[in-house]
Amino acid sequence: MVVRSLMIGCGSCLPRQSVSNHELAQRVDTSDDWIVQRTGIRSRHIVGEGETTSELALGAAQQALAHAGIPASRVDLIVLATTTPDHTFPATAVKVQARLGITTGFAFDVQAVCSGFIYALAVADNFLRLGQARTALVIGADTFSRILDWEDRTTCVLFGDGAGAVVLEAADGQAGTVADRGVLSTHLHSDGRHYDALWVDGGPSATQTTGHVRMNGQEVFRHAVSRLSETAAEALAVNGVDPSQLDWLVPHQANLRIIEATARKLHLPLERAVISVDHHGNTSAASIPLALTEAVTDGRIKRGDLILMEAMGGGFTWGSALVRW
Ligand code: UT7
Repeated sequence: MVVRSLMIGCGSCLPRQSVSNHELAQRVDTSDDWIVQRTGIRSRHIVGEGETTSELALGAAQQALAHAGIPASRVDLIVLATTTPDHTFPATAVKVQARLGITTGFAFDVQAVCSGFIYALAVADNFLRLGQARTALVIGADTFSRILDWEDRTTCVLFGDGAGAVVLEAADGQAGTVADRGVLSTHLHSDGRHYDALWVDGGPSATQTTGHVRMNGQEVFRHAVSRLSETAAEALAVNGVDPSQLDWLVPHQANLRIIEATARKLHLPLERAVISVDHHGNTSAASIPLALTEAVTDGRIKRGDLILMEAMGGGFTWGSALVRW
């Protein structure tokens, strides 16, 4: 019998404040037209004073547990993907663990930038399938607004803040086939030769500062379109699934043009991609679970639907997951 990680709940949390392109255009030399045409972004949520990554993560985790209908005490693993932890250490995951009142099991952070949620999902899925945990919270939470250079129009218009979470629970799969519910496969990749194509120019060891996001946008764009379609194809091939069998693509939300290009390469109509980049911007590790929660909440994604998730980010890191909701 194959052990599967069922996705039994999801949740999200956004900062109260939403900032439109027009508002940004009053701060930096940009325009709503440019941002919409190049990225599809119209607004994003930005944390206010005192709001932290851990608070957003906690809100998403609480909503996911309520949606799953289980108490926090059942969780014995928390994997939190973030690039913007509250502090350099300890892990933001242990703060969330304490705020949820959990005193057993273990919690840690995973750092894979915009691919963070896929990495965290893969890590948690492997713990569950090995029997080393039974119920996991997988959280993607980021406050990129804290590490943006607000004078740099090439990056500051792209990102937003937020958190999303899913609850995984170990269960016996039917036959180890794609008919099973839960995480069917995960696929992770990295190529450190592109370290400085998308990076932060500070850090405890290198500069003893926090630093700001720096990006070679065109290089990232080019790699994103190729790597994302490769890893999407890989997830489908491993499971013997044709794109026509997919109910939903839930992609990382960096740029509408990247999502369109990936869908096109998969021969998937854009209507079957969940898109939230227009009102979330790029929320890094939070973007997939934020989009997923939105589509589950409004009834687009239904129990039994087959979902392909994919992401690419700094490192470069990239990866995909095929999941039956
Ligand atoms: O989640 C992790 C992955 N991140 C991504 O996937 C991001 C990938 N990259 C992209 O999405 C795109 O490359 C961007 C949206 C970042 C940029 O779009 P682009 O079509 O590649 O634009 P560009 O960098 O070639 O810039 C075109 C022009 C430049 O002006 P000149 O040199 O042609 O005169 C820029 O200076 O647009 C200018 N520009 C802006 N103008 C108004 C750059 N940023 C802005 C801005 N407002 N915010």
